[in-house]
Amino acid sequence: MKRLAVIGDPIGHSLSPLIHMTWIDTLGLDASYESIRVPAGETEAALDDFTHEGFTGLNVTLPHKQAVLAKATRTSDAVKAIGAANTLTRLSEGGWQADNTDAPGLTAALARLGLTDWVGMKVLMLGAGGAARAGLFALDQAGAEIILLNRTVEKAEHILGECCARQHRSGPLDDLAVHSAEADLIINTTSAGHGGNHIPLPPGEGRLFYDMSYGAPARPQLEHAAAQGWKTEDGLAMLVCQAAESFSIWFDGERPDIEVALSACRTSLEQDA
Ligand code: ATR
Repeated sequence: MKRLAVIGDPIGHSLSPLIHMTWIDTLGLDASYESIRVPAGETEAALDDFTHEGFTGLNVTLPHKQAVLAKATRTSDAVKAIGAANTLTRLSEGGWQADNTDAPGLTAALARLGLTDWVGMKVLMLGAGGAARAGLFALDQAGAEIILLNRTVEKAEHILGECCARQHRSGPLDDLAVHSAEADLIINTTSAGHGGNHIPLPPGEGRLFYDMSYGAPARPQLEHAAAQGWKTEDGLAMLVCQAAESFSIWFDGERPDIEVALSACRTSLEQDA
């Protein structure tokens, strides 16, 4: 029996157990997936416990995405550039392999919308926190031209240097309307919606406004974007696609069904609303 879990704090509302158990059940695999609350500051001790308890794979969410790196004995290039991991896999020789599947999760979610050819594509990305880092890495690697806007401009400049191999532009969030004119799409990674706020947008004229958040926190921003003529999409498919990448690492390359898990998540969010 393969023992898997997601760790974080808070963790009660995590959709990861639903996503992974949907796949484990439909594929008839001998595995379990639970959610475990691990408070900040207890990351390393918890990982030692999980080793003794025989866990073979962990998803990692806030506030542990950086702290787990102290226990990683192997890290992917994506983890090194992003500075955070969301997937740990127990190695047969001992220790943990750290991966970041948020980056391929974003490109897979955008590919579902027909966005596959990124070379020369102009992406306006909003926010320079933890969620932005994986997105920057993924789209820089894919060949996009990024303009990164953030309330605190210095943070934008800093993470571009850390997460991207190529040169991109940055600026203050207040310049959104100016840069929007040349953007093919906008990706919002800010947590503005969690405070019930939204970032004012100029007219979208049918372009894509992609929000990495989902559920209630995403709603005010997506409703405003739709009213301004943007085609909108929330981050739920990205969540499912990053989970699929983790699943594939743990189950020998098995590619699980995105749609079945996505529809289970949508139903669960509707029940909670
Ligand atoms: P996460 O890990 O979800 O990205 P974070 O690291 O706290 O969370 O980053 C939050 C991001 O949302 C930051 O870019 C933040 O802007 P600052 O760097 O200027 O703080 C942005 N953000 C949060 N609330 C916002 C608001 N009301 N308007 C605009 N940007 C906001």
